Amino acid sequence: MTTRRALLAGAPALALAACESRAQPAAYVGALKDLAPFPIGTCVMSGQIGDPGWRTVADQHFSQLTPEWELKMEAVLRPDGSYDFTAADAIAAYARSSGKRLYGTTLVWYAQESPAFDRIDGTGARFASAYRNYIAEVSGRYRGQAVAWDVVNEPVAEDGNGLRDCIWRRNLGEGYIDRAFEHAAEADPAALRVLNEYNLESLPAKQRTFLRLVEGLLKRGAPVTALGTQSHLDVSLPRGAYAAHMRELAAFGLPIHVSELDIARGGGRIDLRGDIGAAQARLAEEVAQALLDLPPAQRFALTLWGVRDSDSWLRRRPGGEAETPLAFDAAGRPKPIYEALARAFAAA
Ligand code: G3I
Repeated sequence: MTTRRALLAGAPALALAACESRAQPAAYVGALKDLAPFPIGTCVMSGQIGDPGWRTVADQHFSQLTPEWELKMEAVLRPDGSYDFTAADAIAAYARSSGKRLYGTTLVWYAQESPAFDRIDGTGARFASAYRNYIAEVSGRYRGQAVAWDVVNEPVAEDGNGLRDCIWRRNLGEGYIDRAFEHAAEADPAALRVLNEYNLESLPAKQRTFLRLVEGLLKRGAPVTALGTQSHLDVSLPRGAYAAHMRELAAFGLPIHVSELDIARGGGRIDLRGDIGAAQARLAEEVAQALLDLPPAQRFALTLWGVRDSDSWLRRRPGGEAETPLAFDAAGRPKPIYEALARAFAAA
């Protein structure tokens, strides 16, 4: 008999197995993509497409795909300025063949720059031209397939004190954001153009700056046509905070994308005592209801940042081995997060 102490002393995998084996089984309510009145998305890596365990759940429950990283600058732009769309094209082909929408992330992100830009010397005009060409090349490639793009990702400083520093701002000024949306509109006029951010539900100062940024962009006529709230949540988020943040975001009348939902355990601690499933389910229900409460025209989609707990980026972080942040467990079985979402959609 393996004692709990042995479990705690054992490898994280043992504790994880205990978590998952003791995870409350959840009732099957139906396919998320059929129950919800809007698309249900997940992120995907090209290597997952051939994994039967991943594919079965993805095809049953999801109707929209976001390449988790293979459509980002780190994957498509080589240091010499040439492009490699191999993985992104594979994901786009799978989206087409499986009847799923393709969602692009991200064209411009503080966290990613390429040596191809670093080596552009000389006047700002050359940098501006390369910036425009990159956006045109990447978003233009999926014109007619990508339903939307995170045109600019995570522009606001975490403390809410203005915009983040980044190569784009250093070379083009704060207008790099306006430019990105203008270039994206030229490259693919039909795709929704999203400003995507995280921690808006938990950092009021950051959210205030984000809302001011959106207001300014819209006043200047920047073609922003939707807002994304990533929703990488922590079970400790106070009840009602998510719904309140969604109301603030929706005040502009734009479509809203819950773009990267997962619900962490709270600092990655392994809590074998509390019923993490019930806490996650409560928060998942609040997220679903917040989106459901919007006018239909503003309910763009709800994307979970992964299919199974074992697919989560949180598991790939040190200390994250026991995270169970998604709707399905490693074996593809529904969890309380799934049931909470499914029941909220079914009741809508
Ligand atoms: O799969 C390759 C592997 O073959 C290679 O050996 C290894 C080392 O180079 O890299 C692996 O790819 C990594 C990939 O994650 C899969 O693990 C990439 O280097 C790594 O950059 C990539 O990180 C992604 C990250 O964004 C940066 O693009 C994460 O998967 C992805 O979950 C994360 O997603 C972000 C959103 O875009 C924005 N919001 C936050 C969210 C989480 O950080």
